[in-house]
Amino acid sequence: MSDLTALNKETHEAWEVNADVWDNRMGDEGNDFFNILCWPALASLLDLRPDSHILDIACGNGLTTRRLAELGAQVTAFDFSSNLIEKAKTRLADQAARINFHVIDATNESQLLSLGENKFDSALSNMALFDMADIETLFRILPRLLKPNGAFVFSITHPAFNNASSAHVVEEIDDHGEMKITYAIKTSRYMTPFHQRGLALRNQPKPQVYFDRPLQYYLNLGFQNGFVLDGFEERAFPPETPQSHPLGWGGKFSELPAVIVARMRLVS
Ligand SMILES: C[S@@+](CC[C@H](N)C(=O)[O-])C[C@H]1O[C@@H](n2cnc3c(N)ncnc32)[C@H](O)[C@@H]1O
Repeated sequence: MSDLTALNKETHEAWEVNADVWDNRMGDEGNDFFNILCWPALASLLDLRPDSHILDIACGNGLTTRRLAELGAQVTAFDFSSNLIEKAKTRLADQAARINFHVIDATNESQLLSLGENKFDSALSNMALFDMADIETLFRILPRLLKPNGAFVFSITHPAFNNASSAHVVEEIDDHGEMKITYAIKTSRYMTPFHQRGLALRNQPKPQVYFDRPLQYYLNLGFQNGFVLDGFEERAFPPETPQSHPLGWGGKFSELPAVIVARMRLVS
């Protein structure tokens, strides 16, 4: 088994085991990361038209899928965790008629193509590309799934400030006679893609694998496959946001973005 296949298998097993905890934590409405950082930028960059057909990539328990359907979109959503897709199905209410769920692995070319070619106005992936062992297959196949000029909007943890090597640091300094507390991020790895096990949720039973890549990796992959970058936001918590933990993400880190949201558009 290649390294990549083994890592993808480990990733898949972790998401199947952690599905319950993930579903309980995200619930119907999601957490602060989603509601404060990701969704406002995703919704604005997607710029939905009524009846747009959207592909929701690695949809988890269907959080973004339901939001998109509530806005009037037709949504095809997939994840490689069958447990999460089961959870997503049970959370559907009156959006059900606008949503189709599939169990599909985004690293598998033929499974991706089974979604249908030239079919989607846009694609969305919320906080999932760094959870995938390989994203080259997805970027290569996506232009075939999208209609001409289709957009791919994705959010990821900020590659520079929020990767698996990032340490949250607090310092007290005597600034010319005034004691000041500074919250900072110390990052030791960025340029070379790396993977590392970690926790998305502090109480998840099994660590998952994070795949950290520099920003140029994502953008160049898009450019090589016919996309241009035509929308971009760096997202930080506003200063008044409560801390989830003393050194967790929150308003103390308001000058440091935890997330980026990008829109890449096919040029033909
Ligand atoms: C952090 S969760 C985000 C879920 C969802 N997008 C949301 O916003 O709640 C990452 C998701 O990526 C999925 N995932 C990871 N690798 C995948 C792959 N190769 N194919 C499909 N889904 C994958 C996981 O199962 C998990 O649901």
